[in-house]
Amino acid sequence: MTAEKVRKRKVAWGITGAGDKIGDFIEEMKKLQQEYAEKVEIQVFLSKAADQVLKYYRLEEEVKRNFDKVRVEVNSNAPFLAAWMQMGKYEFLLIAPSTSNTVAKIANSIGDTMLTNAAIMSLKAFVPVYIAPTDYKEGPAYTRLPNGKEMKLRVRKEEAEQVKKLELMEDIYVLKSPQKIRQIFQKHFK
Ligand SMILES: Cc1cc2nc3c(=O)[nH]c(=O)nc-3n(C[C@H](O)[C@H](O)[C@H](O)COP(=O)(O)O)c2cc1C
Repeated sequence: MTAEKVRKRKVAWGITGAGDKIGDFIEEMKKLQQEYAEKVEIQVFLSKAADQVLKYYRLEEEVKRNFDKVRVEVNSNAPFLAAWMQMGKYEFLLIAPSTSNTVAKIANSIGDTMLTNAAIMSLKAFVPVYIAPTDYKEGPAYTRLPNGKEMKLRVRKEEAEQVKKLELMEDIYVLKSPQKIRQIFQKHFK
């Protein structure tokens, strides 16, 4: 007798070109992939900038080692994540971390990259989108460079305003730390 193969539910995890807390996001996602391994498959989609930034932080191999499918953006429709989102292949789209570039585009309905296009198409098809922006609170911020040094930056009111705009959009949920992703998994897969 052959054991029936359990069909896993799928999550599309988009990574943008953000270095801020990138290691923390990867660690959290590794934990969740292990905890939910029996019923959930996390597939990874890297923006072109993410592909570059992961290399700078020497985290590219870490992602490839821990997740079975890792795809890199070619253009806004390749890989065709937008269509896969609309067809309901994935439970939800998670963009974490999200650059202020990607946040501003989605907040203004610009879909000219793989992940912004996928986010807008998901929303048109009633599929939820979770976004963890790097820059959401106006004021000073500290980030770690690929060489380990700390750098002081400021989050401008312009970046914070785009996040507020996102928060008002239907079916978009803003996550303010890597740890908040756990609650999304609990909600969808409990
Ligand atoms: C090493 C490195 C780290 C970066 N970190 C951030 C970041 O934390 N937040 C951010 O908004 N942009 C950051 N950027 C800039 C983005 O990569 C850039 O705006 C890019 O166009 C974003 O494209 P994407 O949103 O399609 O991924 C970083 C760039 C580099 C090279």
